[in-house]
Amino acid sequence: MSLLSQKEELSNTNLEQLFANDKHRFANMHMQVNGLLMDYSKQLLTTDTIKLLIDEANKVALKGKIADLFSGAIVNHTEQRPALHTELRNPETNNQSILRVLDQMESFVIKAVNQYTDVIVLGIGGSDLGPHLVCEALSNYAVNTIKLHFVANVDPDTLAPLLQQLDPKKTLCIINSKTFTTIETLTNAKYVREWLKNDQLVGVTANKDAAITWGIQPDNIFEFWDWVGGRFSVWSAVGLPIALSIGMDNFRRFLSGAHAMDKHFNTASFAENMPVLMALLGIWNINYLNHKTLAIIPYADGLQLLAPYLQQLEMESNGKASNQQTAPIIWGGVGCNAQHAYMQLLHQGTQVVPIDFLVAAKSSNDMQELQDLLVASCIGQSQALMQGRSTFEEYKNCPGNRPSTTLMFAEMTPEILGNIIALYEHKVYVQGILWGIESFDQWGVQLGKELIKSTLQVMQTDDYAELDSSTVGLLKSYKDFLSVSDATKS
Ligand code: F6P
Repeated sequence: MSLLSQKEELSNTNLEQLFANDKHRFANMHMQVNGLLMDYSKQLLTTDTIKLLIDEANKVALKGKIADLFSGAIVNHTEQRPALHTELRNPETNNQSILRVLDQMESFVIKAVNQYTDVIVLGIGGSDLGPHLVCEALSNYAVNTIKLHFVANVDPDTLAPLLQQLDPKKTLCIINSKTFTTIETLTNAKYVREWLKNDQLVGVTANKDAAITWGIQPDNIFEFWDWVGGRFSVWSAVGLPIALSIGMDNFRRFLSGAHAMDKHFNTASFAENMPVLMALLGIWNINYLNHKTLAIIPYADGLQLLAPYLQQLEMESNGKASNQQTAPIIWGGVGCNAQHAYMQLLHQGTQVVPIDFLVAAKSSNDMQELQDLLVASCIGQSQALMQGRSTFEEYKNCPGNRPSTTLMFAEMTPEILGNIIALYEHKVYVQGILWGIESFDQWGVQLGKELIKSTLQVMQTDDYAELDSSTVGLLKSYKDFLSVSDATKS
C-alpha cells in the first residue's frame, strides 16, 4: 500500500460514501488538545492514508527535527541561526534577556497607559500582522482605554488623516522593526518623528544601534534577537501593543497558550499530534490531490486578519523552490460574509479548495440567536461542501467531496489564540521539513526590496537607460499625471 495507491482508491469513492461506510468516522478523525478541537473527518483520506503519511514523516526523521527546533539547534541554515520563538513563551526560560524584556514591558505598560490616549504602531509584515491580529481577536480582553492605530502601508491617505485626528502630546509611537532598515516603516516613522517629541518614540528591534542612530532614546528601545524570525515575533516585545491593550497578565496568558501547544507538539506521538497531523493533511491535499490553495475561513469578525497573518506565515516560510509543490496560496476571510461573496466558487467552481474553518462555541456577548446562526452557518458550510447536491436541474448540482478541517473551541481567550497561532507555526515547520526547504529565511523578498530602491532612484534622476519599456512608460506616466494634476490645482 502506498500513498499513490491510496489516491487511486479514493478516486473511486467520495466523502459522503466514506461517512456512510463508517459511522465512527468523526470519532476516529477528530482530536482535542488544550481545549481546541480539530475535526479532520471531512478530509478525503482514511486512517490508512494517515499511517502512510506518518511513515513519510518518519523517513525524514521529523522527531529529531522537532527536538532541534526546541533545543536551539541551527534550523535556519542559510542564515546560520536557530529559530527560538518557542523560548519566548516558555514560562520556565532562564534566558535572562527574555526575562529582562518582559519586565521592561511590564513597567512600560503601567506607565504608558496613564500617560497616553493613543498609540500609533508602525511596522509591516511580521512587525504588524501579529500584534494587529491579536489586538483585534482579543478586543474583549482590553483592560486599558488606550487606542491603537496600526499603520503598515506607505499610503499618505492613511497616515495624514491619522496625524490630523490625534493629539501629539498624548500619543505614543511604537516602531516595530526587527532590522530597523525597512523602508516603508522608516518612511512612515520620519513623518511621525516630525510630529511628536523624540521621547514619545519607542523602538522594538534587533538592531539597537540603528534605532539609536535614527533618534530613538536608548531607554525606549525594546530588544529582540536575530533568532526570532519576523513572522514568529508576536511573542516578543513586538507584542508590546497587545500588552498595552489587554494588559501584561493577559499577554502572559497568550504566551502560555502557545507554550501548551509547544509542549503537545514536542511530546505527542505523530498519530495524536495536532500540528503534525495538520501538516500531513496539507501535504496530502497539496502533493497528492493537487490542490494548490487553502482558504482560511473563521466565523469570527475578530479573526479577520487571520488569513493575512497566515499568508505571511505560510507563504513567506514555505513559498520556496523544491522538486515538488510547496506552500499553497493562502487566502480567505470571515464567514458568513464569505458565503455571500466567493463561496459560490467553492461549491460549484472547477477548482477544489480545501478550507480551514474556525469557530467558537460561545461569544462574550449575550445574543444567542446570532451566535446559533453563526455556528450553524459554519457547520452547515462544511457539510454542504462535503455532501454536495444532485438534482434534475443540472445548474443546481454541487459536486460535493470538497475537503475541510474545522477547528472549534469554547470561546476566544488569550490561551486559545496562543494555541491556534502556535499550531499553525508548527504545521509550517513540519511541512518545510517534509519538502526539504528552508522555512526560516525569505530571500525572495530581498529582490523586491532592492528594486524599490533602484526605482526610487530612477524617479529622482530620470535615468531610464537599460529599463524595459513598460517600466519607463509607467514612470513617465506617473510624472505626466503629477504635472497635469499640479496644473489643475494652480
Ligand atoms: O520583507 C519581508 C520582511 O523581512 C518580513 O519577513 C518582516 O516581517 C518584514 O519584512 C518587516 O521587517 P522588519 O521587522 O525588519 O521591519
